Amino acid sequence: MNAHLATSTPTLGSHQRLPKGLRVLEGRAHGGARILALANQKGGVAKTTSTVNLAAALVEEGRRVLVCDLDPQSNLTMSQGFDPERLERSMYDVLVHKLPIEEIIQHAEFDLAVASIELAGAELALASMIGRERALEKALLTVRRDYDYVLIDTPPSLGLITINALTASDGIIVPVQCEYLSLRGLAQLEATLHMIRENLNPRVAIVGILPTMFDGRLVHAREAIEILEENFGNVVFKTRIRKTVRYAEAPVQGQSVLRYDPMGTAAQAYRELAKEVLALDEATG
Ligand SMILES: Nc1ncnc2c1ncn2[C@@H]1O[C@H](COP(=O)(O)OP(=O)(O)O)[C@@H](O)[C@H]1O
Ligand SMILES: [Mg+2]
Repeated sequence: MNAHLATSTPTLGSHQRLPKGLRVLEGRAHGGARILALANQKGGVAKTTSTVNLAAALVEEGRRVLVCDLDPQSNLTMSQGFDPERLERSMYDVLVHKLPIEEIIQHAEFDLAVASIELAGAELALASMIGRERALEKALLTVRRDYDYVLIDTPPSLGLITINALTASDGIIVPVQCEYLSLRGLAQLEATLHMIRENLNPRVAIVGILPTMFDGRLVHAREAIEILEENFGNVVFKTRIRKTVRYAEAPVQGQSVLRYDPMGTAAQAYRELAKEVLALDEATG
Protein backbone atom coordinates (compact mmCIF):
# COMPACT_ATOMS: atom_id res chain seq x y z
CA MET A 1 0.00 0.00 0.00
CA ASN A 2 1.26 3.44 -0.82
CA ALA A 3 1.90 5.14 2.51
CA HIS A 4 2.00 8.57 0.98
CA LEU A 5 -1.50 8.11 -0.40
CA ALA A 6 -2.81 7.12 3.01
CA THR A 7 -1.21 9.97 4.94
CA SER A 8 -2.40 12.47 2.39
CA THR A 9 -6.01 11.54 3.08
CA PRO A 10 -6.66 13.96 5.93
CA THR A 11 -10.39 14.17 5.47
CA LEU A 12 -10.83 10.48 6.14
CA GLY A 13 -9.66 10.94 9.72
CA SER A 14 -8.31 8.38 12.13
CA HIS A 15 -9.55 5.01 13.31
CA GLN A 16 -10.34 6.39 16.73
CA ARG A 17 -12.88 8.88 15.44
CA LEU A 18 -14.68 6.62 13.00
CA PRO A 19 -16.26 3.64 14.70
CA LYS A 20 -18.92 5.70 16.46
CA GLY A 21 -22.12 5.40 14.55
CA LEU A 22 -20.86 2.83 12.10
CA ARG A 23 -22.89 -0.30 11.57
CA VAL A 24 -24.93 0.07 14.73
CA LEU A 25 -28.17 -1.40 13.54
CA GLU A 26 -30.34 -0.69 16.51
CA GLY A 27 -33.96 -1.68 16.87
CA ARG A 28 -36.30 -0.28 14.31
CA ALA A 29 -38.15 2.64 15.79
CA HIS A 30 -41.57 1.77 14.41
CA GLY A 31 -41.43 -1.92 13.62
CA GLY A 32 -41.93 -3.22 10.11
CA ALA A 33 -39.58 -2.61 7.22
CA ARG A 34 -35.89 -1.95 7.53
CA ILE A 35 -35.40 1.45 5.91
CA LEU A 36 -32.08 1.93 4.13
CA ALA A 37 -31.00 5.03 2.22
CA LEU A 38 -28.35 4.88 -0.47
CA ALA A 39 -26.52 8.13 -0.09
CA ASN A 40 -23.40 9.92 -1.25
CA GLN A 41 -23.44 13.59 -2.17
CA LYS A 42 -21.20 12.83 -5.13
CA GLY A 43 -23.04 12.10 -8.39
CA GLY A 44 -22.24 9.16 -10.62
CA VAL A 45 -21.11 6.75 -7.89
CA ALA A 46 -23.88 4.19 -8.64
CA LYS A 47 -26.46 5.17 -6.02
CA THR A 48 -29.35 4.67 -8.42
CA THR A 49 -27.87 1.55 -10.04
CA SER A 50 -27.27 0.02 -6.63
CA THR A 51 -30.74 0.90 -5.34
CA VAL A 52 -32.45 -0.74 -8.33
CA ASN A 53 -30.35 -3.87 -8.37
CA LEU A 54 -30.23 -4.41 -4.62
CA ALA A 55 -34.01 -4.03 -4.59
CA ALA A 56 -34.40 -6.58 -7.41
CA ALA A 57 -32.05 -8.98 -5.62
CA LEU A 58 -33.99 -8.67 -2.36
CA VAL A 59 -37.19 -9.42 -4.27
CA GLU A 60 -35.53 -12.56 -5.67
CA GLU A 61 -34.84 -13.52 -2.06
CA GLY A 62 -38.56 -13.32 -1.40
CA ARG A 63 -38.56 -9.99 0.42
CA ARG A 64 -41.25 -7.34 0.01
CA VAL A 65 -39.49 -4.21 -1.19
CA LEU A 66 -40.53 -0.59 -1.64
CA VAL A 67 -38.13 1.72 -3.44
CA CYS A 68 -38.49 5.43 -2.95
CA ASP A 69 -37.02 7.65 -5.68
CA LEU A 70 -36.06 10.96 -4.09
CA ASP A 71 -33.91 12.30 -6.90
CA PRO A 72 -35.55 15.07 -9.00
CA GLN A 73 -33.60 13.69 -11.97
CA SER A 74 -35.89 10.64 -11.69
CA ASN A 75 -33.28 8.27 -13.10
CA LEU A 76 -34.51 5.37 -11.03
CA THR A 77 -38.13 5.95 -12.01
CA MET A 78 -37.08 6.03 -15.67
CA SER A 79 -34.90 2.97 -15.30
CA GLN A 80 -38.01 0.96 -14.38
CA GLY A 81 -39.74 2.11 -17.55
CA PHE A 82 -41.78 5.09 -16.33
CA ASP A 83 -41.78 8.47 -18.03
CA PRO A 84 -41.57 11.02 -15.20
CA GLU A 85 -43.18 13.66 -17.38
CA ARG A 86 -46.33 11.59 -17.67
CA LEU A 87 -46.69 10.94 -13.98
CA GLU A 88 -49.36 13.12 -12.45
CA ARG A 89 -48.19 12.72 -8.91
CA SER A 90 -44.90 11.87 -7.30
CA MET A 91 -42.88 12.02 -4.11
CA TYR A 92 -43.17 15.79 -4.43
CA ASP A 93 -46.87 15.59 -3.55
CA VAL A 94 -46.12 13.18 -0.73
CA LEU A 95 -43.45 15.38 0.85
CA VAL A 96 -44.99 18.78 0.23
CA HIS A 97 -48.76 18.16 0.08
CA LYS A 98 -48.88 15.18 2.48
CA LEU A 99 -50.49 12.96 -0.16
CA PRO A 100 -50.53 9.38 1.20
CA ILE A 101 -47.55 7.58 -0.32
CA GLU A 102 -49.80 4.63 -1.28
CA GLU A 103 -51.33 6.87 -3.94
CA ILE A 104 -48.12 7.28 -5.90
CA ILE A 105 -46.71 3.77 -5.60
CA GLN A 106 -46.31 2.05 -8.97
CA HIS A 107 -45.72 -1.63 -9.45
CA ALA A 108 -42.56 -2.62 -11.27
CA GLU A 109 -39.93 -5.23 -10.41
CA PHE A 110 -40.56 -3.91 -6.91
CA ASP A 111 -43.00 -1.36 -5.59
CA LEU A 112 -41.81 2.10 -6.53
CA ALA A 113 -42.69 5.49 -5.07
CA VAL A 114 -41.94 7.56 -8.14
CA ALA A 115 -40.05 10.82 -8.58
CA SER A 116 -40.63 13.64 -11.02
CA ILE A 117 -38.83 16.80 -11.99
CA GLU A 118 -41.18 18.70 -9.64
CA LEU A 119 -39.17 17.24 -6.79
CA ALA A 120 -36.55 19.86 -7.58
CA GLY A 121 -38.97 22.34 -6.00
CA ALA A 122 -39.36 20.28 -2.84
CA GLU A 123 -36.21 21.67 -1.21
CA LEU A 124 -37.63 25.16 -1.37
CA ALA A 125 -41.20 24.19 -0.50
CA LEU A 126 -40.09 22.14 2.51
CA ALA A 127 -37.74 24.84 3.78
CA SER A 128 -40.50 26.92 5.31
CA MET A 129 -42.49 24.00 6.74
CA ILE A 130 -42.54 22.94 10.38
CA GLY A 131 -41.19 19.42 10.63
CA ARG A 132 -39.47 19.84 7.29
CA GLU A 133 -36.86 17.18 8.05
CA ARG A 134 -39.45 14.56 9.00
CA ALA A 135 -41.83 14.66 6.01
CA LEU A 136 -40.52 11.36 4.61
CA GLU A 137 -40.38 9.62 7.97
CA LYS A 138 -44.05 10.49 8.49
CA ALA A 139 -45.03 9.47 4.97
CA LEU A 140 -43.50 6.02 5.42
CA LEU A 141 -45.31 5.29 8.68
CA THR A 142 -48.43 4.01 6.97
CA VAL A 143 -46.62 1.59 4.67
CA ARG A 144 -43.71 0.30 6.65
CA ARG A 145 -45.61 -2.72 7.89
CA ASP A 146 -46.32 -3.77 4.31
CA TYR A 147 -42.65 -4.26 3.41
CA ASP A 148 -39.51 -5.97 4.62
CA TYR A 149 -37.25 -3.32 3.09
CA VAL A 150 -37.67 0.27 2.01
CA LEU A 151 -34.72 1.46 -0.10
CA ILE A 152 -34.36 5.19 -0.70
CA ASP A 153 -32.42 6.58 -3.66
CA THR A 154 -31.15 10.08 -2.91
CA PRO A 155 -29.99 13.03 -5.00
CA PRO A 156 -26.30 14.04 -5.22
CA SER A 157 -26.42 16.68 -2.49
CA LEU A 158 -26.76 16.95 1.26
CA GLY A 159 -29.80 19.22 1.04
CA LEU A 160 -33.19 18.88 2.68
CA ILE A 161 -34.30 15.94 0.52
CA THR A 162 -31.28 13.89 1.53
CA ILE A 163 -31.72 14.99 5.14
CA ASN A 164 -35.29 13.66 4.97
CA ALA A 165 -33.92 10.33 3.75
CA LEU A 166 -31.28 10.13 6.49
CA THR A 167 -33.85 11.06 9.13
CA ALA A 168 -36.27 8.37 7.99
CA SER A 169 -33.67 5.60 7.77
CA ASP A 170 -32.39 2.87 10.03
CA GLY A 171 -29.14 2.62 8.09
CA ILE A 172 -27.20 4.13 5.23
CA ILE A 173 -25.47 2.31 2.39
CA VAL A 174 -22.77 4.46 0.80
CA PRO A 175 -21.77 3.54 -2.74
CA VAL A 176 -18.27 4.84 -3.52
CA GLN A 177 -16.36 4.77 -6.73
CA CYS A 178 -13.01 3.03 -6.30
CA GLU A 179 -11.05 6.22 -6.83
CA TYR A 180 -8.95 8.12 -4.39
CA LEU A 181 -10.76 11.43 -4.85
CA SER A 182 -14.16 9.81 -4.31
CA LEU A 183 -13.12 8.66 -0.86
CA ARG A 184 -12.56 12.15 0.41
CA GLY A 185 -16.24 13.06 0.23
CA LEU A 186 -17.04 10.46 2.87
CA ALA A 187 -15.92 12.74 5.69
CA GLN A 188 -18.53 15.30 4.71
CA LEU A 189 -21.24 12.67 4.65
CA GLU A 190 -20.14 11.47 8.08
CA ALA A 191 -20.28 15.01 9.45
CA THR A 192 -23.85 15.35 8.17
CA LEU A 193 -24.79 11.99 9.69
CA HIS A 194 -23.30 13.09 13.00
CA MET A 195 -25.57 16.14 12.93
CA ILE A 196 -28.58 13.99 12.06
CA ARG A 197 -27.84 11.62 14.94
CA GLU A 198 -27.56 14.49 17.41
CA ASN A 199 -30.69 16.29 16.30
CA LEU A 200 -33.09 14.12 14.35
CA ASN A 201 -32.44 10.39 14.34
CA PRO A 202 -30.13 8.85 16.94
CA ARG A 203 -30.34 5.36 15.40
CA VAL A 204 -29.01 6.12 11.91
CA ALA A 205 -25.59 4.79 10.95
CA ILE A 206 -23.58 3.78 7.94
CA VAL A 207 -24.27 0.06 7.67
CA GLY A 208 -22.09 -0.51 4.66
CA ILE A 209 -19.75 1.15 2.21
CA LEU A 210 -20.10 -0.35 -1.25
CA PRO A 211 -17.14 -0.15 -3.62
CA THR A 212 -18.52 0.36 -7.14
CA MET A 213 -17.12 0.58 -10.67
CA PHE A 214 -14.20 -1.53 -9.50
CA ASP A 215 -11.56 -2.36 -12.08
CA GLY A 216 -9.27 -4.95 -10.51
CA ARG A 217 -6.63 -4.41 -13.21
CA LEU A 218 -5.91 -0.92 -11.90
CA VAL A 219 -3.47 -0.48 -9.05
CA HIS A 220 -5.27 2.75 -8.22
CA ALA A 221 -8.59 0.95 -7.71
CA ARG A 222 -7.02 -1.70 -5.50
CA GLU A 223 -5.33 1.00 -3.43
CA ALA A 224 -8.59 2.87 -3.05
CA ILE A 225 -10.14 -0.27 -1.55
CA GLU A 226 -7.19 -0.66 0.81
CA ILE A 227 -7.64 2.90 2.03
CA LEU A 228 -11.34 2.26 2.54
CA GLU A 229 -10.72 -0.89 4.54
CA GLU A 230 -7.99 0.76 6.63
CA ASN A 231 -10.35 3.55 7.57
CA PHE A 232 -13.67 1.76 7.83
CA GLY A 233 -12.76 -1.85 8.53
CA ASN A 234 -15.60 -4.32 8.23
CA VAL A 235 -18.10 -1.59 7.42
CA VAL A 236 -16.88 -2.01 3.85
CA PHE A 237 -19.03 -4.64 2.15
CA LYS A 238 -17.13 -7.70 0.89
CA THR A 239 -18.99 -7.44 -2.42
CA ARG A 240 -17.16 -5.48 -5.13
CA ILE A 241 -19.27 -4.09 -7.93
CA ARG A 242 -17.12 -4.34 -11.03
CA LYS A 243 -17.11 -1.95 -13.94
CA THR A 244 -19.25 -3.22 -16.81
CA VAL A 245 -21.49 -1.69 -19.43
CA ARG A 246 -24.32 -4.07 -18.43
CA TYR A 247 -25.32 -1.61 -15.70
CA ALA A 248 -25.83 1.11 -18.30
CA GLU A 249 -27.61 -1.19 -20.77
CA ALA A 250 -30.27 -2.56 -18.43
CA PRO A 251 -32.05 0.75 -17.63
CA VAL A 252 -32.50 1.46 -21.34
CA GLN A 253 -34.71 -1.64 -21.40
CA GLY A 254 -36.51 -0.50 -18.24
CA GLN A 255 -35.04 -3.40 -16.31
CA SER A 256 -32.72 -4.20 -13.46
CA VAL A 257 -29.58 -6.03 -14.48
CA LEU A 258 -30.99 -9.10 -12.71
CA ARG A 259 -33.81 -9.22 -15.23
CA TYR A 260 -31.82 -7.95 -18.22
CA ASP A 261 -28.95 -10.43 -17.88
CA PRO A 262 -29.95 -12.84 -15.11
CA MET A 263 -27.01 -15.20 -15.50
CA GLY A 264 -24.32 -12.52 -15.83
CA THR A 265 -21.70 -11.52 -13.29
CA ALA A 266 -23.22 -8.03 -13.00
CA ALA A 267 -26.46 -9.53 -11.65
CA GLN A 268 -24.54 -11.92 -9.45
CA ALA A 269 -22.69 -9.06 -7.74
CA TYR A 270 -25.93 -7.52 -6.49
CA ARG A 271 -27.21 -10.92 -5.37
CA GLU A 272 -24.08 -11.15 -3.22
CA LEU A 273 -24.73 -7.68 -1.86
CA ALA A 274 -28.31 -8.66 -1.02
CA LYS A 275 -27.02 -11.64 0.95
CA GLU A 276 -24.68 -9.35 2.90
CA VAL A 277 -27.53 -6.96 3.65
CA LEU A 278 -29.77 -9.81 4.79
CA ALA A 279 -26.97 -11.17 6.98
CA LEU A 280 -26.62 -7.78 8.70
CA ASP A 281 -30.25 -7.89 9.69
CA GLU A 282 -30.10 -11.47 10.83
CA ALA A 283 -27.20 -10.49 13.08
CA THR A 284 -29.14 -7.66 14.67
CA GLY A 285 -32.71 -8.94 14.60
N1 LIG B 1 -20.48 -0.93 -11.92
C1 LIG B 1 -20.65 -0.08 -12.93
N2 LIG B 1 -19.85 -0.16 -14.03
C2 LIG B 1 -20.00 0.69 -15.05
N3 LIG B 1 -20.91 1.67 -15.09
C3 LIG B 1 -21.73 1.82 -14.04
C4 LIG B 1 -21.65 0.96 -12.91
N4 LIG B 1 -22.60 1.33 -12.02
C5 LIG B 1 -23.24 2.38 -12.58
N5 LIG B 1 -22.73 2.68 -13.80
C6 LIG B 1 -23.14 3.75 -14.70
O1 LIG B 1 -22.60 4.97 -14.19
C7 LIG B 1 -23.53 6.03 -14.34
C8 LIG B 1 -23.86 6.62 -12.96
O2 LIG B 1 -24.53 5.64 -12.18
P1 LIG B 1 -25.77 6.03 -11.26
O3 LIG B 1 -26.26 4.79 -10.63
O4 LIG B 1 -26.76 6.82 -12.03
O5 LIG B 1 -25.04 6.96 -10.19
P2 LIG B 1 -25.66 8.00 -9.14
O6 LIG B 1 -27.07 7.61 -8.87
O7 LIG B 1 -24.78 7.88 -7.93
O8 LIG B 1 -25.54 9.36 -9.77
C9 LIG B 1 -24.74 5.45 -15.03
O9 LIG B 1 -24.63 5.70 -16.38
C10 LIG B 1 -24.63 3.95 -14.74
O10 LIG B 1 -25.22 3.18 -15.76
MG1 LIG C 1 -28.81 8.70 -9.05
